[in-house]
Amino acid sequence: MIEAIREARNYLQDILPRTPKVGIVLGTGLSGLASMVKDPVVIPYGEVPHHPVSTAPSHVGQYVFGSLEGVDVLMMQGRLHYYEGYTMQEITFPIRVMQGAGITHLIVTNAAGSLNESMQPGDLVILRDHINFMGTNPLIGPDDPLLGERFPSMHQPYDTAIINKIEAIAAAHNIPIKQGVYTAVSGPSLETTAECHMFVGLGSDLVGMSTVPEVIVGIQTGLKIAGISVVTNLSNIFHSKAHTQEEIRKYAAQAQNNLQMIIVSLINQL
Ligand code: HPA
Repeated sequence: MIEAIREARNYLQDILPRTPKVGIVLGTGLSGLASMVKDPVVIPYGEVPHHPVSTAPSHVGQYVFGSLEGVDVLMMQGRLHYYEGYTMQEITFPIRVMQGAGITHLIVTNAAGSLNESMQPGDLVILRDHINFMGTNPLIGPDDPLLGERFPSMHQPYDTAIINKIEAIAAAHNIPIKQGVYTAVSGPSLETTAECHMFVGLGSDLVGMSTVPEVIVGIQTGLKIAGISVVTNLSNIFHSKAHTQEEIRKYAAQAQNNLQMIIVSLINQL
């Protein structure tokens, strides 16, 4: 894996005009931020050596490098999901590549279902902590110090100083924002009502199918991380109808402007 990461990183470094500082993972329906960077350099995942390619609907599958508010960012427009059939190592490969390419900060975004009535579709929620309920871990495998710590501490995966900055930015822009605990499941089937009740009992506010593996690898590689969810639907606890991908995309689109405003303001405070 080390050699694959090195080759992918070298490929990016050869193409990128400058070293990116902040990596941004754009979740389902949230890829609009990529159109806001100046002088974009677009690199489809498929062109990067050893790189897995996204198969999920609405996930484009490319890196977009450019300047956002004068800060060089490297965005993932479209992420890889465990439910697509990739291994945990494959879905987190891009985090290692971006870290190798020079990022020191990572902002992860996602669409999530709400387990907490105070978090409604269209709302933004800062991740305060997470629960890994995927039944596996991206760090499982041979111990190689080049990948990072064998047993990285997860006492504060989401950087408190960045959380406070996001709170302040949201308040200044009159954007309501909450903090919550995100539980990651493998999917792709959605949670049953009994599972939703269990997650509430475990202390979760949100449920989704991504982010946590990326954050675990990000911590192992020493990145400072922030996570923001867009609530796209209420979980089964609050109603008894199926939610659709259209509904999820509609609410993601609705929240996208606020999310973009927050990220754009945050970027030069990192
Ligand atoms: N459950 C899991 N993943 C999701 C959901 C959900 O309700 N909404 C968006 N992603």
